[in-house]
Amino acid sequence: MKTEITWHGHAGFSIKGSSDILIDPFFSGNPFARETAEDMKPDIILLTHGHFDHAGDAVKISKKNGSPVLCSFELSELLKKEDVKTIDINPGGTVDFMGVKITAVPAIHSSSYNGLYAGEAMGFIVDNRDIKIYHTGDTTYFKDMELIGKLHEPDVAMLPIGGHYTMDVDGAVEAIKLLGVRKAIPMHYNTFPPIQADAMEFKRKVASAGTEVIIPEIGESFPL
Ligand code: NI
Ligand code: MN
Repeated sequence: MKTEITWHGHAGFSIKGSSDILIDPFFSGNPFARETAEDMKPDIILLTHGHFDHAGDAVKISKKNGSPVLCSFELSELLKKEDVKTIDINPGGTVDFMGVKITAVPAIHSSSYNGLYAGEAMGFIVDNRDIKIYHTGDTTYFKDMELIGKLHEPDVAMLPIGGHYTMDVDGAVEAIKLLGVRKAIPMHYNTFPPIQADAMEFKRKVASAGTEVIIPEIGESFPL
């Protein structure tokens, strides 16, 4: 089954193949959101970390659809107090969910949820047997991305370019070189004043690395 991606703005994506995977839902309070939490009917929700611009609508969507939330052990403990069904994981771990292999990998970032410590931030490799996608989560570049590229061979990377809280355009260019991916989708930029970035600049700069940059419209689905 061909995979279809939707960028919901910021770090939010849906990966739809044989199942519907929603990563980092942030609709309420997102100035550029074109959809709402009510529109989402995922089979599972992946949270890279607990910050509001990633986990903001997870509880609402999870409860409405009965979809479990895959996240760090500590964030899972916090979400369970809100009666959310969770699957806890930490970097290095892999779960098989409806035939989709989801592996948690490290990220260099912080994580809290409603002011409480929420464990380590992470990224995810999603392998739905059609395509392998690496959503880096909020992170800077790090040398181990080379190893992630080698071990998991992702086809596509979704990575932040906004700077300030994460890597910026030049950092993301380095990350692309380390990963050696064919396709990249920039995220986590322009949503807030401190994270202004030019996706076209990113596109130009990675062209020399042979990587195709896809800059999706928010809320529109496209095949990968
Ligand atoms: Ni964050
Ligand atoms: Mn963030």
